[in-house]
Amino acid sequence: MSEIFEPKNIIVTGGCGFIGSNFVRWVAREHPEVHVTVLDKLTYAGNPENIAGLDSACVELVVGDICDAGLLDELVPGHDAVVHYAAESHNDNSIADPAPFLRTNVEGTFALIEACRKHGVRFHHVSTDEVYGDLALDDPARFTEETPYRPSSPYSSTKAASDMLVRAWVRTYGLRATISNCSNNYGPYQHPEKFIPRQVTNILDGVRPRLYGDGRNVRDWIHTEDHSSAVWTILTRGRVGETYLIGADGERSNIDVLRAILRAMGRPEDDFDWVRDRPGHDRRYAIDPTKLRRELGWEPAHTDFAAGLERTIAWYRDHEPWWRAAKDAAEARYAAQGQ
Ligand code: NAD
Ligand code: TYD
Repeated sequence: MSEIFEPKNIIVTGGCGFIGSNFVRWVAREHPEVHVTVLDKLTYAGNPENIAGLDSACVELVVGDICDAGLLDELVPGHDAVVHYAAESHNDNSIADPAPFLRTNVEGTFALIEACRKHGVRFHHVSTDEVYGDLALDDPARFTEETPYRPSSPYSSTKAASDMLVRAWVRTYGLRATISNCSNNYGPYQHPEKFIPRQVTNILDGVRPRLYGDGRNVRDWIHTEDHSSAVWTILTRGRVGETYLIGADGERSNIDVLRAILRAMGRPEDDFDWVRDRPGHDRRYAIDPTKLRRELGWEPAHTDFAAGLERTIAWYRDHEPWWRAAKDAAEARYAAQGQ
């Protein structure tokens, strides 16, 4: 077991997005002694409402771009750590227009690790299991930290590139960094372009959900609160230079998730439309989280998927003003793509 790192003053990039804002809320609740500076550009996916109501003495928002090296030179010194969530995060958008993914995910990560190297600040890089490509449905294997990188989409290839930059900075410059690769998250504050909130808000709008391809693609679902506790565990107790996979044994096919949503919302299980498949659509993701569990003793708390889904559906039912404008814009993008 390595030394315990006790940060008091951290920067969270992308802290107004889905997973970043859930992490900020989690830290404010579990570690109120820690000051959080959120650095967020407020793209279409960032919403300051996601962190509204938190004690302003503990959480501060700086609106800015992670690619802005001058801003980072002012902001990074004096902080103990940067926890890096900011990204362009949606596969379908990356297929329609990859350029912002290259800029934010690759150049933005480069700017951040340069600033952390220069100012001697610890770095945690939040990444995805999608860097490993996909598995066949009948393959008993799951991804481990040793699985070779084989990304399929513009999104996952830019995340893979950013992971490689962090690894090189650790080895060449001695950057004090850790990396985590997590599976698909669900929970409150997720943008309505993503699978679960898109289908829930479609049903709330009286529109039939949309399933890609044959619906048999498998994702390994984890509640975003469990992702937050895992990132905190890795930041404070993980070994510098190491990668940890985060997952909670949540493999489910898309059609099973959709039927569970329809049932929970009182709709017939076949009340959805098949739409054209995503080009290059990854078949299956599955995480083996043994290293994180054995080495750092982390365990997920939200292991009842049906209960987590019910709470998530209730959250969207209660928060229409939060999702309405984002939903309308996302559906206009989907309509243009025939999805
Ligand atoms: P999101 O799209 O909901 O939020 C991204 C946030 O980053 C937004 O607040 C946006 O305004 C901000 N941002 C984008 N470009 C920026 C820039 N140039 N400068 C500053 N801020 C910028 O994304 P998410 O789903 O919350 O994902 C967060 C991170 O977790 C990403 O790095 C993603 O790759 C990773 N991840 C996501 C999942 C998932 O299931 N969504 C799973 C594993 C890992
Ligand atoms: P998504 O939430 O975009 O996450 P990711 O691409 O990172 O896994 O999609 C999850 C799965 O749901 C993926 O297999 C694509 C599928 N999907 C649909 O079938 N219909 C939809 O409307 C969306 C948005 C996704």
